[in-house]
Amino acid sequence: MFISFEGIDCCGKTTQVALLIERLQSLGHRVLLLREPGGTTISEKIREILLDKRNLKMTQISELLLFSASRSQLVNEVIKPALQQRSIVICDRYVDSTTAYQGYGRGLPLGAVKTINRVATMDVMPALTFFIDITVKEMHERRRASRQEADRMEMGTEEFFQRVREGYHAIAQEEPERFTVINGLQTVEAVQEEIWRRLEGRLPERND
Ligand code: TYD
Repeated sequence: MFISFEGIDCCGKTTQVALLIERLQSLGHRVLLLREPGGTTISEKIREILLDKRNLKMTQISELLLFSASRSQLVNEVIKPALQQRSIVICDRYVDSTTAYQGYGRGLPLGAVKTINRVATMDVMPALTFFIDITVKEMHERRRASRQEADRMEMGTEEFFQRVREGYHAIAQEEPERFTVINGLQTVEAVQEEIWRRLEGRLPERND
């Protein structure tokens, strides 16, 4: 089973993914965690290029194609083989990030983004996607509190992140079966419970 997590920066994905994996493993499931961009030797090299603050000359099209190239490697080298072995694959960001950030955020033509997404994923899509939704204001507050240095993608403007968030909501409208919106302003425990309630009935047999 393939599951992905989405959201704007600082939404709490990483915490929620870690909690979910713990729970799945304690029930005897075999779980593989991946993060995008990254997860293969080539994809990690592409990640460095994408997040490097010095790469200010990067065109929006290069950005789109690099995220997609990284994904193509991950799908072929890791995701497909793991799904064939009936692992639960959890991806911290996947193709919806490209739709939201490069399509809605950067304003690249959505039709072209959709086509490139299909080429890069070869239509390997998550059965379930959890979009942990926070406001842009909350994102700024959390970022200030954590005092982490922003990478190239995190240097986007307020309006950029508003558009990214709107993009995620547009996907939710289009694909309500797969794409679940979860209010990320709740406590960590409440978010996790919502995720679990949605997922529990759909889990495969344990593979121990
Ligand atoms: P990362 O440090 O992994 O951030 P996070 O913890 O928020 O996932 O950096 C990934 C950044 O790349 C993040 O700002 C979102 C962005 N991104 C895109 O713009 N398009 C994509 O297709 C993907 C996968 C990520």
